[in-house]
Order: sequence, then structure tokens, then C-alpha cells
Amino acid sequence: MSKLIVVTRDGEEKILSGSVGSSVLEVIHDAGIEDLMALCGGCCSCATCHVYVDDEWISAAGAANEDEADLLEDSEHRKTASRLACQIKITDKLDGLRVIVAPED
Ligand code: FES
Repeated sequence: MSKLIVVTRDGEEKILSGSVGSSVLEVIHDAGIEDLMALCGGCCSCATCHVYVDDEWISAAGAANEDEADLLEDSEHRKTASRLACQIKITDKLDGLRVIVAPED
């Protein structure tokens, strides 16, 4: 299990734990946090699971893949730290990862 810290849209910080191999989106949903609509169910085609990776974790989390980057391009809230939560997999290396839920587009 890895620790995942999530800052919700109302600014609350939640400490969750997720299994290695799960996506950040799955961990957030399993915790009952409903900020991310995730309309496509996690198959990288809707961009409604937009989060910002905390500055300290950007390099460990890695860059957005090509499809993800294309989807994020249409978001008016895109930043350098933007990722889609369904595309970040929990790994041991990401134990303690902190993400902030982006504003809704
Ligand atoms: S849930 Fe649709 S892109 Fe992530």
C-alpha cells in the first residue's frame, strides 16, 4: 500500500492509501471523494479527472502520455503540473504522492 494525499476542491486534505497498480483516480473514488466525475471510467478520453501533482512529486510521477497531454490541452485550467488521475498508477516510488484536484472546466 502507498500513501496518497489528496487536496479536494473545497481545500480539504485527505490522506488515503492505495494498492500498488491502482490508479490515483481509483484510490480517490474508493475513498468516496466525488470531485472527479471521470466520465469515461478511466480510459483516458474525457479529462474529467484532472489533478495537479504537487511540485515535489512532478518528476517522480512523470510526464503526461501523448493522449493525456492532448486531452489536457483543452482545459482552461491546465498547468505544468497537470495530469489525469486515471493515468497515474500507484507505485512504491510514489508512496506519499500529493495531488490537488483541479477546478472543473
Ligand atoms: S477518467 Fe476520463 S480521462 Fe480520466
